[in-house]
Amino acid sequence: MTTAVYPGSFDPTTNGHIDIIRRAAKIVDTLIVAVLDNHAKNSMFSVAERVSHLKEITKDIENVKIDSFSGLLVDFAKINNVKMIVRGLRALTDFEFEFQMALTNRELSGEIETLFIPTSKEYLFLSSSVVKEIARFSGDYSGMVPEIIKRELERKFNI
Ligand code: PNS
Repeated sequence: MTTAVYPGSFDPTTNGHIDIIRRAAKIVDTLIVAVLDNHAKNSMFSVAERVSHLKEITKDIENVKIDSFSGLLVDFAKINNVKMIVRGLRALTDFEFEFQMALTNRELSGEIETLFIPTSKEYLFLSSSVVKEIARFSGDYSGMVPEIIKRELERKFNI
């Protein structure tokens, strides 16, 4: 039985994240999507909100579980007996940060491997920050996020 963790901020979840979740869920037996609870980071949505969004969005995928974590990812992985981390790779600009993170996690725990999944081409330049920026100025971001996130962003920005 292979279990993997797909960690991230998910502030908010985009269609790019969903693409990675669906594809990773086909490769492993169980996929834990883990939302980082980082008080230092200025998040738009609370951890409870982000977890709730992901639960709603992934409710049709049987082998996906949603959780949150604080502290080191490798500790979360150890507690859950997970040895594989999934990360999506977009443009080349992601590579340095992702490579550093993968090597650091392996330094911290020799048992951990990172599996990179290249994004689908339509999400190459999509990020949570881009979505928030467009939403803030009432631009069109349909096609970038699921309906539930669109509603949540409109609520946050009182649109
Ligand atoms: O969606 P993001 O913000 O790119 O995700 C980054 C995340 C949550 C995967 C990363 O910041 C993380 O794992 N943080 C937990 C702290 C940790 O384990 N750091 C050591 C590895 S650099």
